[in-house]
Amino acid sequence: MSDSGVIRRLDSSSPGVLLGVREAGEASSPPLLFLHGFPLHGAMWAPQVAAFSSEWRTIAPDARGAGASDVGTGQYTMELLVDDLFAVLDQVAHDEPVVAVGLSMGGYILLRALEREPQRFRGVVLCDTRSAADGRAGKLARAIGIRRIEQEGLEPFVDDFLEAVLAPGTRAKRPESWSGLKRMMMENSPIGVRGQLLAMASRVDTGRVLGSISQPSLVVNGSEDRLTRPAAGKAMAAKIPNAVFSMVEGAGHLSSVEAPVEFNRILGRYLQHIR
Ligand code: MLT
Repeated sequence: MSDSGVIRRLDSSSPGVLLGVREAGEASSPPLLFLHGFPLHGAMWAPQVAAFSSEWRTIAPDARGAGASDVGTGQYTMELLVDDLFAVLDQVAHDEPVVAVGLSMGGYILLRALEREPQRFRGVVLCDTRSAADGRAGKLARAIGIRRIEQEGLEPFVDDFLEAVLAPGTRAKRPESWSGLKRMMMENSPIGVRGQLLAMASRVDTGRVLGSISQPSLVVNGSEDRLTRPAAGKAMAAKIPNAVFSMVEGAGHLSSVEAPVEFNRILGRYLQHIR
């Protein structure tokens, strides 16, 4: 058993491609789904699994190409990642609606999944994420990233990514979170990371779903997030009926990892309200 739960390999939406899914907690507890950010995998949720698996059945899948999941062709779309999520939910949650927590890329997957099949969700937590699709500059930056990983391998990309997304104080204050995140990112397949860049660059805008989210919702943002600024998180929350906005002080883009105690306090309050 890893810190993020027992890893099972389950069917994806493509024949022969298996996905790693981390599960912890009692089978009779209500399901709590965690969707990881890019270019991480499900182990990023270890602090939340430790805090909540006594009362919830935690489910943290590795996206295609990440962690214990197969890579497949490396040609991914956001639609494919949502198809994979539905395949996993069919196997682990059956017809029971889940409370879902998605951080950044996990939030992109969750928003599109809510647009397609809202009945699968009982509660929605969107962390350091947005509904807008990439603009011109964003798409070009993804293309540069894909080329760079092909030419130089994963490590220089990962180093620059961490520099860009963590709060300036995180590396000094919590060096273990920097090194743990880097280790996790380096465990991923370079082909998978490039496939996820492709999926994010080609995803559609999901802004139209915000006004129809009827589940109790929480939007969380690191106060130092330079990729998804707190003002953008707040604006997204304002468009979701029944959404509460909370800020994780001092955290950057990876708020659940950078400030797990404060993040868990916020998530715990929301989960108590849901139960
Ligand atoms: C993430 O944390 O999942 C990524 O930063 C998302 C993105 O690059 O848009």
